[in-house]
Amino acid sequence: MSGAAGLFISFEGVEGAGKSTQIRLLAERLRSETVRDVVVTREPGGDSIGAELRRIVLHPPDGAAIDARAELLIMLADRAQHVFSTIRPALARGAIVVCDRYADSSVAYQGFGRGLDVERVKQLNAFATDGVSPVVTILLDLDPEAGLARQNEKTRMEGEAISFHQRVRDGFLELAAEETGRISVVDASGSAEEVADRVWQIVQCCVGTP
Ligand code: TYD
Repeated sequence: MSGAAGLFISFEGVEGAGKSTQIRLLAERLRSETVRDVVVTREPGGDSIGAELRRIVLHPPDGAAIDARAELLIMLADRAQHVFSTIRPALARGAIVVCDRYADSSVAYQGFGRGLDVERVKQLNAFATDGVSPVVTILLDLDPEAGLARQNEKTRMEGEAISFHQRVRDGFLELAAEETGRISVVDASGSAEEVADRVWQIVQCCVGTP
């Protein structure tokens, strides 16, 4: 968030791009190379209310169909609550916040993937986030087929056709082309260590290592 003492970093990408592993490796490195508080969180489901919303939207109990607009609004409710309960307070006390998915996921999945109006999704994101935006976004880019092959758990999203995941990937890349200052595209193929080094090259300059 610009103007605050903290540093907000988000990770984005298609299913199975390796975000969890990369976030874990980055958090370890930040903790060993800086003296700063590091908060790792995720969307949907970053706090107790978000955990309920996550269960509803990714694993509806009776497998009920969810309307695309309802899906978007649940993601946005999760985000507004997450900013209020977790992200804004952490940034205000000077922490580095590393978030597994944020507003770009709504644009890529509900906008490009589901076909909702992309500009409308961006406006609703601005409302939900109240202007809290990452300074650095790492887009882990991978062919969706390769990503899905790595996944074991099946959520509603992972069960979607490959063409859906291809639109999501293309959407992320379009966002990255629009916002080159914030979003860095990182090749997510190769070993976890190789990808972690690529991520560190980008993040290192922002964190004030001694
Ligand atoms: P998760 O199991 O956390 O997947 P991943 O490990 O790939 O992040 O599930 C999050 C799912 O929610 C993922 O399929 C992307 C989707 N999602 C949206 O569709 N819109 C959003 O705004 C967010 C934050 C996530």
